[in-house]
Amino acid sequence: MSEAMWGGRFTKTVDEMVNEFQASINFDKRMYHEDIAGSIAHAIMLAKCGIISDDDCGAILQGLKDIEAQIEAGEFDFSVDLEDIHMNIEKRLTEAIGEAGGRLHTARSRNDQVALDTHMYIRREVVAVQKEIINLQEALLETAKKNQDVIMPGYTHLQRAQPILFAHHLMAYFGMLSRDYARFSGVYQRADIMPLGAGALAGTTFPIDRELVAKQLNFEQIYSNSLDAVSDRDYIMEFLSAASILMVHLSRLSEETILWCSREFSFVELDDAHCTGSSMMPQKKNPDVSELVRGKTGRVIGHLMAMLTTVKGLPLAYNKDLQEDKEGIFDAIDTVKFSLGVYAQLIRGMKVKKDVMRKAVEEDFSNATDLADYLVKKGMPFRQAHAVSGTAVHKCIAEGKYLADMTLPELQELSPLFEADIAEALKPETCVNQRISLGGTSTEQVKLQLTAAQELIDAE
Ligand code: ARG
Repeated sequence: MSEAMWGGRFTKTVDEMVNEFQASINFDKRMYHEDIAGSIAHAIMLAKCGIISDDDCGAILQGLKDIEAQIEAGEFDFSVDLEDIHMNIEKRLTEAIGEAGGRLHTARSRNDQVALDTHMYIRREVVAVQKEIINLQEALLETAKKNQDVIMPGYTHLQRAQPILFAHHLMAYFGMLSRDYARFSGVYQRADIMPLGAGALAGTTFPIDRELVAKQLNFEQIYSNSLDAVSDRDYIMEFLSAASILMVHLSRLSEETILWCSREFSFVELDDAHCTGSSMMPQKKNPDVSELVRGKTGRVIGHLMAMLTTVKGLPLAYNKDLQEDKEGIFDAIDTVKFSLGVYAQLIRGMKVKKDVMRKAVEEDFSNATDLADYLVKKGMPFRQAHAVSGTAVHKCIAEGKYLADMTLPELQELSPLFEADIAEALKPETCVNQRISLGGTSTEQVKLQLTAAQELIDAE
C-alpha cells in the first residue's frame, strides 16, 4: 500500500517526477486561511448534525487553530508529497490529534473543498482589488481638482482635435475605474455561492446541513447542483475578465503617460522617484512604471485566455486540469493590485506642465470647430460653416499662422458673418467653456463631475 492519503488501492508509490508535477502545494498554500476556516465550519456542521462527536469536533478545531498559528509563524513544513494545501493540513492535524483528525474529511471531497477555498479567496481579493481601485480614483480626482484651470488639446487619431480641460481627461479614467469597480462587485456575487457539500461530484450520503456551513462562512447562496458546484470556474474567468478590462484601462493610461512625459509632448514630468535611468545614456529618465503596467496587461489577458481554454473542453465534473486555475488567478491578483497601487503613486507625484499644454492648444487649429460653430450661431448651415473654417485653416497653414492671427477683414473675406466677437470665440477658455452639454468639457460640467466623483468616493 502506498503511503499517500489515498494510497489504499495502490501497490506502488507515485513516481518522483509525477509527484512533483502534480503537486500544487507550492502555490495553493496561499489559501491556508480559507482552507482552515472552511474545515472549521465543516467540522462544526458535522458535529451539529451528529455525524462526528462534540469531543472530536473540539479537538479538530483546536488542532486547526494550532496549525494556522504554525503557518503564520513560518513553522509549518509544507510537503510536496502531500500534494496540496488540503492534504498538508489534514495530515498534520491527524498527526497532532489522532483519529479525530481522520474524521474531518467525512462527507467531503477535495473537489468541493478546493472549490470552497477558491470561492472564499476570490471574495477576499475582490474586496482588496476594489480598495486599490478607489485609491487610484482618489489620486486621479485629487490631481484633477488641483489642475482645474489646465487646458490641453484633446486628441482623435492622436491629432489635436479640440481643446479640453486636463481634469476632464483624467476624469475619463475615473469613469472607467468606476465600471471596473462595478464589474468586480459582480465577480463577488458569483463567487459568493457555497459549493461545500457537493462531495466529489454527486452529493453525500451523510445528513449534512449545507445552510449551516454557508451561514458560518457568510455565503449569500448555495450551489443547487453538486456537479455544477465542483466544476464551476465562472467566478475565476469573470475575475480574470474584469482584471483584464481593468488592466486595459491602466494600459491606455500608461500609453498616454508615456507620450505625455516624452520630450515631444512634455505635458507632464514624472517624479524622479518613479522613474529609472539608463546604464549607458546619462540623460535618460524612463517611465518604467507605465511601461511595465502596459506590459503586464498582456500577462493578465494571457491568464484569462489560459483559463477559458482550460475549461472549454472539460467534461463534468472535476478534472485535474482545474488545478490550473490557481497560478494564473494568483498572479493576476498580485499584478492588478500592484499595478493599481503603483499607479496611484505615479499620478500623485506627476507634475503637470500647464504652459506647455496651453501652447499646444494655441499653436494649432483645435479651435477650428469653434470657428465653424460661431458661424452656425450667426445663421450659417453647419456644412457650409465647416467648409469656411476649413478654408481658413488652409490659408493659415499657407501663411504660417493660426486662426487667432487672422484679422477681421481677412475673415470677413471668407464670410460677412464674422464680427469683432470672433476673437473671443477662438480663445482656448471660450472653446472649453462653451462645451456646456452634459458630460462636456466646460469648467461648469467638469465641476459637476468632480463633485459627483467625490460623493462616490465618500460613499465607499
Ligand atoms: N489540488 C487540487 C486542485 O487544486 C485539489 C483537488 C484535487 N482533487 C482530486 N480529485 N485530485 O484542483
